[in-house]
Order: sequence, then C-alpha cells, then structure tokens
Amino acid sequence: MKLRDNARFSTICIHAGQEPDPSTGAIITPIYQTSTYVQDALGQHKGYEYARTQNPTRAALEANIAAIEKGRAGFAFASGMAAEGAVMTLLKSGDHVVVTDNTYGGTYRLFEQVLRKYQLDFSYVDTSNASCIEAAMRPTTKMLFLETPTNPVLRITDLRAACEIARAHGATSVVDNTFASPSLQRPIEFGADIVVHSTTKFLNGHSDSIGGIVVAVRDEHVEWLRFIQNAEGAILGPMDSWLVLRGTKTLPIRMERHNANAHALAEFLAAHPKVVQVHYPGLPDHPQHELAKRQMSGFGGIVSFRLGSLEKARTLLNSVRLMALAESLGGVETLISHPASMTHASVPAEARQRIGVTDDLVRLSVGIEDIEDLRDDLAQALDRL
Ligand SMILES: Cc1ncc(COP(=O)(O)O)c(C=O)c1O
Repeated sequence: MKLRDNARFSTICIHAGQEPDPSTGAIITPIYQTSTYVQDALGQHKGYEYARTQNPTRAALEANIAAIEKGRAGFAFASGMAAEGAVMTLLKSGDHVVVTDNTYGGTYRLFEQVLRKYQLDFSYVDTSNASCIEAAMRPTTKMLFLETPTNPVLRITDLRAACEIARAHGATSVVDNTFASPSLQRPIEFGADIVVHSTTKFLNGHSDSIGGIVVAVRDEHVEWLRFIQNAEGAILGPMDSWLVLRGTKTLPIRMERHNANAHALAEFLAAHPKVVQVHYPGLPDHPQHELAKRQMSGFGGIVSFRLGSLEKARTLLNSVRLMALAESLGGVETLISHPASMTHASVPAEARQRIGVTDDLVRLSVGIEDIEDLRDDLAQALDRL
C-alpha cells in the first residue's frame, strides 16, 4: 500500500502510516500490548527494544498524524497536557513565551503554576491582533504559543502573520490545533514549527481515550522530542494509540457533520430572543469571519453563547435532555458545558472576565446527531428560561 505524494486529505487520514501487519498481513495495525521485545542474540533485534521507547501501534499513529498535519514526525503522549509539557522542555530558564490570552485553562495552569517555578516567563496577549504579538516580543522570547480558534469564545489568529513574526524574532511557533483539527486547518502549511493536540478531542472523536500528540518539522525539534518522549516517558499506551488511529480514519466525514450541525445551531441561537450573544466563526458578525473563511476549510464544531445571567445559564444546562452536561469536546455526541466553572475554573475571575469567559457563557461541542433532535433539545431548554 504505497501512498502517492499527491494523495488527498481523506486518503491520507485512512492510509498514512498504515502498513499491513508484517507478521500476518492484518489490514489494521494490531494493539501491540507488550512491555518488551525478545532479541535474537545480544545486540540483534528488530528495531524494538523496550516499549516506552518504541511501540508499533504508537509508531503507526505517530506516522499517521504527522502525515495528516504535514509535519515530519509525530510523538504521542498520555494526554494533551503531557504533549504540551514535552513541548515546553524545548525552553530553558530565563526564556519568555508569548501566549494567546484566551488559551485553554489547563495550558494556563501549566504555564503559571508549574513552569514559572522553572523561571520561564509568559505574556498573554490577544494574538488575533498581530500588533499585540509584535509588541509583546522581547529579546528573550523563544516561543509563540498560539491557540486558534480559542476555547471557548472562538477568536481566530492569523497563523501566517503570527508565525512570520515569531520567525523574524527567532522564536519557535507552536499551535494548539485541537479545536479546529487538521481537517479544517493545518498550521504547518501557514509556517508553524510545531503543532500540538489533545487527541482526546476531534482526532479520536469518540470520547473514549485521553491522549496528546506533538508534530514537528525542524530537525532539532524532532530530535529533542524523540529524546524527551523516552526520557520523561509520558507515552500514549498501545490501546489508546489504536483507538485514536481508528478515529483519524473518519476525521474528515465527522468534521463535515460537526461543522454543519454547529453552523445550524449557531444560526438558531443567533435568532433566538433569549440569547444575548453567539460566538461562532461561521456567523458573518464574528470579528474574524473573513479570516476564518480564508484560513479554515470549515468553521468547526464548537459554539458558545451568552444568556444574560449565571442563573439562566444554570437553568439551561440543567434542562437539556439529549445533550450531556460534561467537560471535553470533539466527540460524536453533543456536550454542553459552563466554561467559567468547568474548563476555565483555574483561570482567575478577573482574567476570565477579560477574555470573555463570563458567568453566563455556555459552550456546546456539537456532535453528529440529527440536527433536528439537537435543535429541539435546545429549544425546549430555552423555553424554560
Ligand atoms: C485546546 C486544548 N488543548 C489542550 C487540552 C488538554 O488536553 P488533555 O485533556 O487531553 O490533556 C485541552 C483539553 O480540554 C484543550 O481543549
């Protein structure tokens, strides 16, 4: 099975890194649930010595996602946060990082409560405004850490412009591409050096695995990430690797339905008299709608909206029947959540306010159910306000 160089995206998703199993011809890469590998003689082995360092199921996933993201190599970790932690080991004490201000709460917690202890410094800026990035760069800035669209208010950063600024300052550009998924945007094509994902979300897509991946293009990053994955050992296990590999095969068709359903719900909410504001890049009044049209091939499966008060948000969250009240996103089933008290609880209240994570904000991770059922569920819950 040789993938041609000009293979299209959905073909890459299904076939990249997927050789038939050499011992049986099994079309699906098996779950190599083993801790070690028997050597033929001292110093003679088949390229596998110990399963923290190498595992064929994990290797198949890493090759698959590296190809999907148009990178050189991928490294799979036990969670999205473990993947981010590994990326941050590229830095040393005294280095400064410019970060999207509206970044995932767990990223903020890692940077502020863990990495500051190691004398790393962080500036959080509105990266949807390129001049804010430029203004935040210092001689010690070694990394630009971007998230676009942001969680949960879906602000969009111009990846080409932002990565160019990083390059001009000799800083590594890192993009958390979890929210869009590579089906909608591939940051490396816009000049990013490193892409990071929580595979827990759209890449796996079935809410049954926690994982993360880093994809890199530059030799020095690839070498260091390979080293640190083994040295720190926060690897993705073979069962989870297999689950994510199964997920990536259907990523493009799942994303088509996520996009369509989310767009329909965003329009429904925008027209509803009880909704104060809707955040969705596909709506013409979204501040970066034109940029989203240029940079992304779909507007994504996440919608957030304001209801005017915490009480109203609480009533809605407790009134939905089909949608599940839960953290996380990117699965086939629709989830509803309250960012201020759930995903962003670790962000201080005044910082939450500044980035638009208000107490009346509700976030939907729109699944791939029938749109009529989703609309009916929201409508009956809104009727109770
Ligand atoms: C944008 C983003 N990045 C990273 C993470 C962390 O991933 P994980 O929960 O797999 O550690 C999340 C989790 O919600 C996320 O939404």
